[in-house]
Amino acid sequence: MAIRPQHGEVYYPSEEVIARARVKDWEAMYKASIEDPQAFWAKEAEELEWFRHWDQVLDDSNPPFYKWFVGAQTNIVHNALDRHMKTWRRNKVAFYWIGEPGDTRTISYRELYNEVNRFANVLRGLGVKKGDRVTIYMGRVPEIVVAMLATVKIGAIHSVVYGGFSVEALRERILDSESKVVITQDGGWMRGKVVPLKDTVDQAVVQTPSVEKVVVVQRLGPEVKPVNMVPGRDFWYHELMASPLAEGPSPTEVMDAEDPLFILYTSGTTGKPKAILHVHGGYMVGTYTALKYVFDLQDDDVWWCAADPGWITGHSFIVYSPLVLGVTSIMYEGAPNYPTPDRWWQIVETYGVTAFYTAPTAIRGLMRYGEEWVRKHDLSSLRILGSVGEPINPAAWKWYYRVVGGERCPIMDTWWQTETGHFMITPVPTVPLKPGSAFRPFFGQVAEVVDDEGNPVPPNTEGYLILKNPWPAMLRTLYGDPERYVETYWSRFPGRYFTGDSAKIDEDGYFWIIGRVDDVIKVSGYRLGTAEIESALVAHPDVVEAAVIGVPHEIKGNAIHAYVVLRAGLAGTPELEKELIEFVAQQIGKIARPEKIHFVDKLPKTRSGKIMRRLLRAWTLGLPEGDLSTLED
Ligand code: PRX
Repeated sequence: MAIRPQHGEVYYPSEEVIARARVKDWEAMYKASIEDPQAFWAKEAEELEWFRHWDQVLDDSNPPFYKWFVGAQTNIVHNALDRHMKTWRRNKVAFYWIGEPGDTRTISYRELYNEVNRFANVLRGLGVKKGDRVTIYMGRVPEIVVAMLATVKIGAIHSVVYGGFSVEALRERILDSESKVVITQDGGWMRGKVVPLKDTVDQAVVQTPSVEKVVVVQRLGPEVKPVNMVPGRDFWYHELMASPLAEGPSPTEVMDAEDPLFILYTSGTTGKPKAILHVHGGYMVGTYTALKYVFDLQDDDVWWCAADPGWITGHSFIVYSPLVLGVTSIMYEGAPNYPTPDRWWQIVETYGVTAFYTAPTAIRGLMRYGEEWVRKHDLSSLRILGSVGEPINPAAWKWYYRVVGGERCPIMDTWWQTETGHFMITPVPTVPLKPGSAFRPFFGQVAEVVDDEGNPVPPNTEGYLILKNPWPAMLRTLYGDPERYVETYWSRFPGRYFTGDSAKIDEDGYFWIIGRVDDVIKVSGYRLGTAEIESALVAHPDVVEAAVIGVPHEIKGNAIHAYVVLRAGLAGTPELEKELIEFVAQQIGKIARPEKIHFVDKLPKTRSGKIMRRLLRAWTLGLPEGDLSTLED
């Protein structure tokens, strides 16, 4: 192996890992991939099926509106399901599903194909057409996969809204996408409690003129969770699926490689969430390639991406790329520590999970309960682990490596974003690892850490993380707002993709991600915008002004602290603090709940009126106030 890091603590892969891996010589492969990225990606794309071949791999004539596999036609569902029907994989397990109460289902590729075909017919019957938007608001049940794939099969565009979002957040996303149909469940299980998904939809779809129909999957049944069905608007999934609407041939729509696949809302610098748009061809090729090389999945693997389908990690690595690759996956409905802190390890043991992917916050949360909970289970099936969503601190990395991975399993610390579609900075199983470092750019990509002027900084110096090459699975635009797309990602360093993160590169060329440099806070791996939380707070009648900051937190990575100015004459009581915290939960979702509200008479601002968050952070953490020359008075 060519890479021999000279600095810091290094973990080398075992002979066994190397023997099995697809990528034996990372350096040679990386070098070739960046000498000719188009050739690299075209070769990967040839492994998949197209209705029409591309005329051009990359059209970069109108940056940053890049196009990939120009002229090609496909449908990601054709590659995720249809093509497997021609091989032995039709009888392979696509998903082992485990409900939180312990009920289970096993779904083969053939069964998933049949179900998707029927539901695609149902959606057509409900009037959904190519290019229409469908909002999906569900928990972790197999039908969310069916709903996503059926939507895409008929050429419509899904917008999955994470089931933890509140009424307001859901309504805003339905309105913005102008969805025709909403697909939901009566409810789901989380930590032994019912998540009332349909009730939330009922409240969200008032004043959403685009919504014509609501389809409801019965997960719980009327004894557990009765729901209100509006005649003519609301339909039970199981009734539709048993009706003549579902019958008949269900052709997969022929899509242009650049046709929209889905939109997914994520947080940015302003209050309004950004609608990230991904397309059929490039996203399919990119996610497939990344999963194949980084987790090195093969036919004997049992893959478990423990994210939620409502986030990009779930879209790319529960739904799309595992199916395109034809692997067997786990989907678990509930919480990792319910009913006991070994629930995940129990599942790993029962199903012989070989590759496991989660977020540092979950690892830190489970570390708290002690090793005994892990040691109770035989985890010897595991051969590779992964981490995503925020920097993994070396202590959590080492615990994951030693206790969960039995010192055998390399950890793929994958840095990426909703926008990038898949891992952009990541190891592969055969490279030496340093705890806390995400290694180097993925194939075809060149990343740099630069200063304010865009010049690369010396080793071990913090700077802005940028990506230099376009890649097939990159977002194409912000749906409905191409100007904001250009401004957010391509104007800070013209011609290069600005990630919004800061990072360092060490003397060995290893990347160390530090964190967001914009107004985004990662809390337990969730991506939240300070502006969203601030607008939620000022929507409360007692609040005049609010400023939100992220403060380091042992388990969550960051916690939200809010500085709030109340209406004159009001007192900041502990009761009001509680009320405001709950108010934010109602406006956005529990994930956005501030941990602490600080009541202040006024917010520190610069003379030009900008809130000095740096100062708020210094106050909260008890740090020196620093340079106050720009403070207003
Ligand atoms: O700050 C980085 C952090 O998560 C951000 C992207 O968030 P989101 O779009 O929600 O996607 C999360 C799942 C891909 C990034 O800008 N981030 C993600 N992965 C890592 C990370 N920070 C450090 N290390 C990672 N492995």
